[in-house]
Amino acid sequence: MELIQQTDFNGDAGIQLTTVPAVQPTATQVQVQTAYTPVLPWDWRSATGELTHLNAARPPYVPSYALTGIVTAVGQLRQAKLVGQRVLTVNFHGAAREQNLLGPTPLLLTVPTQVSLAAATTLIGGADAAVKLIQAAKVQAGMTVLVTGSAGGVGSYLIQLLHQQGVTVIALSRPANRNWLLQLGADFTVDYTTTLDEQLAVLPKPTVLLDTVGNTQLLNLLAAGRPQLKLWSIGLPQWQPHDATQSFHFVSGPIWPQTYRRLLEQLATGQLTAAIAGTYDFHAVVQARHAAQQAGRRGRTLLSYTSQN
Ligand SMILES: NC(=O)c1ccc[n+]([C@@H]2O[C@H](COP(=O)([O-])OP(=O)(O)OC[C@H]3O[C@@H](n4cnc5c(N)ncnc54)[C@H](OP(=O)(O)O)[C@@H]3O)[C@@H](O)[C@H]2O)c1
Repeated sequence: MELIQQTDFNGDAGIQLTTVPAVQPTATQVQVQTAYTPVLPWDWRSATGELTHLNAARPPYVPSYALTGIVTAVGQLRQAKLVGQRVLTVNFHGAAREQNLLGPTPLLLTVPTQVSLAAATTLIGGADAAVKLIQAAKVQAGMTVLVTGSAGGVGSYLIQLLHQQGVTVIALSRPANRNWLLQLGADFTVDYTTTLDEQLAVLPKPTVLLDTVGNTQLLNLLAAGRPQLKLWSIGLPQWQPHDATQSFHFVSGPIWPQTYRRLLEQLATGQLTAAIAGTYDFHAVVQARHAAQQAGRRGRTLLSYTSQN
């Protein structure tokens, strides 16, 4: 069984593929043949040691925490009917391995047959963060909301979920993604590669800014001259509002398993679409991390661990 290891904090240079013996599940474990893991900013930022204040993992460690796959064996104390099920789950000991052994967890979710495992993989570190932002900001129908990072793994779900709620959505993006974002549910797009103020001046006034980029300069530009703005960010822990009427909050934390189930259901019925920027064999993890950081990508990059998906 092969796994990916981060052997030091030198980023890609510290990645190694390692072979270890396959292990049978203990009485309380389930064994999952991994299908996909998402390539998250969390992974490539942790790999440089940038997130040691948030991520307890120290080299050598197995990266990634989200995965989808098929249950291949269960311990004596687990339900035998789990075997063969397609699941979305997490392994906080590192998911980037061909087989994951998981103890009891509330987050072992059956993926509906209509949903591909690849699509389900985009929910963790994507749609969940979008839900969290919307909940934290108490977004309601009729509001006008400005979104940064609209084409990203979080942003692409944020646009869709806000549209579902009857919100007027202004999506900040590069021009090449404009039509795609309008199809996803944006009402207006603003090209962040050129002057912002002129473009925003002719649009409805946003009262909420949901930030998935975490760039201080960008927030400064967007907040200037907009005293009505309440800002919520998943990318920036701290930022100083420009005006006493503005507010800023960092958003982080889990969502409930039933909320993941609702998201899976929405993928099954087509109410939500998973944006997958590309899929790479897990041996090409360095290439995948590079690709995921290229400008203009749409949605999440995935690693694949088996050719049978
Ligand atoms: N707090 C939490 O719980 C939590 C959870 C999930 C994610 N996050 C964080 O949220 C951030 C976004 O995650 P993600 O997975 O959505 O990342 P992603 O898929 O890489 O997307 C990032 C998006 O940001 C845009 N962008 C990058 N630099 C920009 C700039 N200077 N100005 C405007 N747009 C810019 C990119 O657009 P272009 O391609 O056009 O450049 C891209 O669409 C990451 O920092 C991640 O660590 C936090």
